[in-house]
Amino acid sequence: MKHTDIYEVLTDKSLLGKTVVVCGWVRTFRDSSAIGFLELADGTSFSRLQVVLDKNALNIDAECTKNGASVCVTGEVVKAFKGEGAELNAKEVKLLGKCPPEYPIQKKRTTLDFLRTIPHLRLRTNTFNAVFRVRSVAAQAIHRYFHDHRYYYMNTPIITASDCEGAGEMFRVTTQPFGAKEKSEKEYFENDFFGQKAGLSVSGQLEGEVAAMAFSKIYTFGPSFRAENSNTTKHLAEFWHVEPEVAFAELPDIIEIAEEMLKYVMKAVMDECAEEIAFFDAFVEKGLKEKLTHVIESKFAVCDYTDAVEMLKKANVKFQYPVEWGCDLQTEHERYLTEVVFQKPVFVTNYPKEIKSFYMKQNPDGKTVAATDLLVPGIGEIIGCSEREADYDKLVAAMKVRNMDMSAYKQYLDLRVFGSVPHSGFGLGFERFVMYVTGMENIRDVTLFPRWVNNIM
Ligand code: 4AD
Ligand code: MG
Repeated sequence: MKHTDIYEVLTDKSLLGKTVVVCGWVRTFRDSSAIGFLELADGTSFSRLQVVLDKNALNIDAECTKNGASVCVTGEVVKAFKGEGAELNAKEVKLLGKCPPEYPIQKKRTTLDFLRTIPHLRLRTNTFNAVFRVRSVAAQAIHRYFHDHRYYYMNTPIITASDCEGAGEMFRVTTQPFGAKEKSEKEYFENDFFGQKAGLSVSGQLEGEVAAMAFSKIYTFGPSFRAENSNTTKHLAEFWHVEPEVAFAELPDIIEIAEEMLKYVMKAVMDECAEEIAFFDAFVEKGLKEKLTHVIESKFAVCDYTDAVEMLKKANVKFQYPVEWGCDLQTEHERYLTEVVFQKPVFVTNYPKEIKSFYMKQNPDGKTVAATDLLVPGIGEIIGCSEREADYDKLVAAMKVRNMDMSAYKQYLDLRVFGSVPHSGFGLGFERFVMYVTGMENIRDVTLFPRWVNNIM
C-alpha cells in the first residue's frame, strides 16, 4: 500500500498543505458535535498523529473510531492546532480491520503484570512501543560502535558441545526419542544427532576468542541460553548477549572499552529516542534523564573485590546473605555497592578464583583472577568481563581442578599453543542494559516473548 509513515507526516515540514495517505491503529477517539478527533499510531514514532474528522462532510463508518481498529486515512497535512507538529484533515477514512470491544488493551486495565499475559498485543501500548524502539536503537548503536572501531562482527554457533561458563546451565539439544532404550549415558549420546552430548550455547566467548586470535578485535551479538532456575526480575532462559573479544588487551584495557561503549550507546539512545526517554522519565523512573546524563559524564568507579567485601562487612545493613571473603556477591550486595557506596556504575575487580570461570587469567597472588563485573544501580551486574588465561599450563591446571573434559576443549587449548597473546573480553546482557536505560524494572518487560522457568508463551 502506498502510504506515508506517521513519523514523516509529523516531522517533514515540506508535507504541509499536501495530501497524504496514512495507515495505523486508532488509539483514542474524541467526539464533539461536528468534529471528531482520531489519534492514530503506526509505530514509526512515539508521537501519534491527530486526525480531524469533519463529521458533516464525511461519511464515517463507526468501526473506524473504535479503539484498536486499523484504518487508512487520506487527508491534508496542516499545522497542528497546538504545538509544533502537524495534524491531518481527513478527506476519506477507510476501515482496514475492525476491533471488537473485548480488545484487551484498554486504559483501565493496563498494568504491566496484566500486559505480560498478552505479549502479542502489549507492544501496541505506549510503554512497550517505547521500550522496543529504544531496544532497536541501542542494538544499532552497539553495531555502529564496534563497526566504527574496526571490530568484526562474528556469528558464533548456537548449538555447541562445550559449556563456556561451566555452571551446568546448558539446555540440551537432542533428537533422541522418548523412552530411548540405550543402556548407558555414553551409548545414549552416541546414538544422538551429533554422536555426542550437545546443547544451546550459554556464551559465544570460546569461539569469539578463536576469531580474536585472527582479527584482533571482534564482537558477537546473539542469543545465549541458560537453564537456570532463577525466577527473578533480571534472569531469562534466553537473552541477547553482546560479547567483544580483544587481542593484546589486558584487564584495564577492556574495562576502558566497556565503559566507552556503554556511554556511546547511552548517548545514542538519548539523542535518537528523546521522546521515549522523556516518557520513561515521567512515568517509569523519575530522574532517568538526569541519571543517564550523569552516567555519561562521570567516570565509572573501580573497586577491588577484597575492598568491596570490607565495605559490605562494615555496612550498616542487614543482608539476607552474609558476606565473607570468598563468597559470591549476591544482588543485594551488588546493589548496595553501586547504589549506596558509589552511587554510579562500578567495576568490581579481582574476584576469588573459586567463584569464577576456568578461563580467567590467574593473578600472581594465586588466589584471585583478573575478572570484573560491572554493577549498575537498580539492577546489579550487567557485564561479566575478564582477561583470559593465555598460559597453556595454567589454563590446563584450572580445568583439571574443575574436572573438565579436556578433549572437548582441544581447539580452545590450541589457541594457547599457537601464538598465544594476552587477550580480554566481556559479555553485556543486552536486556539488562535496556532495563537500565529505560528504567523498566522487570527483564520480562524488555523482551518480546520472554522465556523463563515454566514459561514459554
Ligand atoms: O557473567 P556472564 O555469565 O559471562 C559470560 O557469559 C562470559 N562468557 C562473557 C564474556 O566474557 N564474553 O554473563 C554475561 C552477562 C551478565 O553480566 C548478564 O548481564 C547477562 O550476561 N546474563 C543474563 N541476562 C539475562 N538472563 C540471564 N539468565 C543471564 N545470565 C547472564
Ligand atoms: Mg557473571
